[in-house]
Amino acid sequence: MSEPVYHVPVLLQEVLAGLNIQPDGIYVDCTFGGGGHSLEILKRLNAQGRLVVFDQDADARKNVPDDERVLFIQHNFRHLQRFCRLHKIDQVNGILADLGVSSHQFDTADRGFSTRLEGDLDMRMDQRQELTAFDVVNTYSEQQLHKLFEQYGEVTNAKTLARTLVQVRQNVSLKTIANFKQALQSVVKGNPHKYFAQVFQALRIEVNDELGALKEMLQQVPLLLKPAGRIAIITFHSLEDRIVKNYFRKGQFEDDDQAADPFGRHAPAPPLKVITKKPVVATEAEVKQNPRARSAKLRVAEKETRNEE
Ligand SMILES: C[S@@+](CC[C@H](N)C(=O)[O-])C[C@H]1O[C@@H](n2cnc3c(N)ncnc32)[C@H](O)[C@@H]1O
Repeated sequence: MSEPVYHVPVLLQEVLAGLNIQPDGIYVDCTFGGGGHSLEILKRLNAQGRLVVFDQDADARKNVPDDERVLFIQHNFRHLQRFCRLHKIDQVNGILADLGVSSHQFDTADRGFSTRLEGDLDMRMDQRQELTAFDVVNTYSEQQLHKLFEQYGEVTNAKTLARTLVQVRQNVSLKTIANFKQALQSVVKGNPHKYFAQVFQALRIEVNDELGALKEMLQQVPLLLKPAGRIAIITFHSLEDRIVKNYFRKGQFEDDDQAADPFGRHAPAPPLKVITKKPVVATEAEVKQNPRARSAKLRVAEKETRNEE
């Protein structure tokens, strides 16, 4: 029997066009996964080209092609620049990040990402990490839980959920996904699947510090890109998209420049030139073939030539 597909790349043609690939260039794929995007980038590189791929999940290693132009780094992309330097790479022609979890991670029950499967509350992309969803659910304060369900999951009754969770965990073991869903049945609002999907999104973002890693990576991009080098980022929810949009446009993460700097005196010069004024989204045909593409948004920016030091 053939193995299930690890992951189907989204917005593939749009990413390749956005990166404007130079055949002898150096490219970084921050989120290698099943390597769908990477393999197509590799096809467009000549013998001088190089491809550095990051994935913090050890499972991704098995997808790395046997090709001397490819270097796999099993670390968080928040350490992008450090690992590039370690491998004597100062600047690159393009960077790709296709955020979130892969279908493989999602569909592997014991990784604990899916509300539809049974497994332990884990949700770590990097299994060397200590913090799991179990720890978040069982040790965070009511206030911490309230904030993360509200901010990361946009759960409408985040306060009630946090209060109930802190009460039930005193008497019930919340080790598995089934335990968790069962114990919180009474607070579900609306469609249970949708509700738990939002709750799980919040837990996953916290466990993997997804927004923190994205911000740290973005801040390294202007220096790491060569002049006219491109960055392409695919996001899957509005929290990430807002961070990327603001950073590309203004070099900062907040929506409101006034709040960050009321007199506008210290507004940083935008470090990048926006290529996609509006985010690129999947065609109906792609969404039909791959429903995961429905919420994908691609933004591309370019390093200005005049910013070169
Ligand atoms: C959506 S999948 C990427 C799929 C890939 N583009 C493909 O075509 O197969 C995201 C992958 O990035 C990895 N990942 C997510 N955040 C990461 C981070 N901060 N550092 C390193 N890897 C990360 C995940 O482990 C996962 O394998």
